Amino acid sequence: MLDKDRIPRHVAVIMDGNGRWATKRNLPKMSGHNAGMQAMKEIVKRASTLGIEHLTVYAFSTENWKRSVEEINGIFGLIVVYVAKELKELDENNVKVKVLGDYSKLPEKSVESLEKALKTTENNTGLQFNIALNYGGRDDIRRAVTDIAKLAAAGRISPDDIDEQLISDYLWTGVHHANVPDPELIIRTSGELRLSNYLLWQCAYSEFVITNTLWPDFTPEEFEKCIEVFQGRDRRFGGRNK
Ligand code: FPP
Repeated sequence: MLDKDRIPRHVAVIMDGNGRWATKRNLPKMSGHNAGMQAMKEIVKRASTLGIEHLTVYAFSTENWKRSVEEINGIFGLIVVYVAKELKELDENNVKVKVLGDYSKLPEKSVESLEKALKTTENNTGLQFNIALNYGGRDDIRRAVTDIAKLAAAGRISPDDIDEQLISDYLWTGVHHANVPDPELIIRTSGELRLSNYLLWQCAYSEFVITNTLWPDFTPEEFEKCIEVFQGRDRRFGGRNK
């Protein structure tokens, strides 16, 4: 049984398997992403009901630009559809939308939709729904290092002031951007055992739960099961429990 008193503050998800889901059905890849968007919508709702503070989804990585123009534009088109269909409900449910990554590189219509979602929900105090878009873990660290190097070059900090907290502060998840704690739990669907450049710094002590389910088939019930698995883990953070 899910322990409602020990819900993780931040769950991050790698929504993998949309392509395979479509291929299995002889459908174009976009049908998989479309079904993936429906699955995502339900997980956001359940995360909100469970009282999770942060849900982060990997919607488009810095490496996904290698895909075909049709697929890339299809995924960006889904952002427009999602915001048009769901923003009202997200707002009514007090969900706050944030983006991790430089979304200014997306097509204008997607940027406009995202900005509308960010603006409409900025004062909400419920679930924070972080969408990782044009996000890469190495790029996240690179950007933070650049920002910190600029501070040092301007004499505003000394190189000796650079500690782990300062680096965390300048990541997309840091206080200067989306302000998200490190994820306690990372869920990956479709059975791949890799991190794919997701939240590299932030996952230092995350628990991983991998399921073979393809993302479009992932249900809120399975999401709760993943949290139950997490709750059964012995987290020691490098120390000992006895
Ligand atoms: C990975 O599956 C999934 C993606 C790269 C895209 C995820 C996008 C969505 C769920 C669309 C909705 C998002 C928003 C923010 C509206 P894959 O294509 O790599 O699957 P495969 O490994 O089976 O090919």
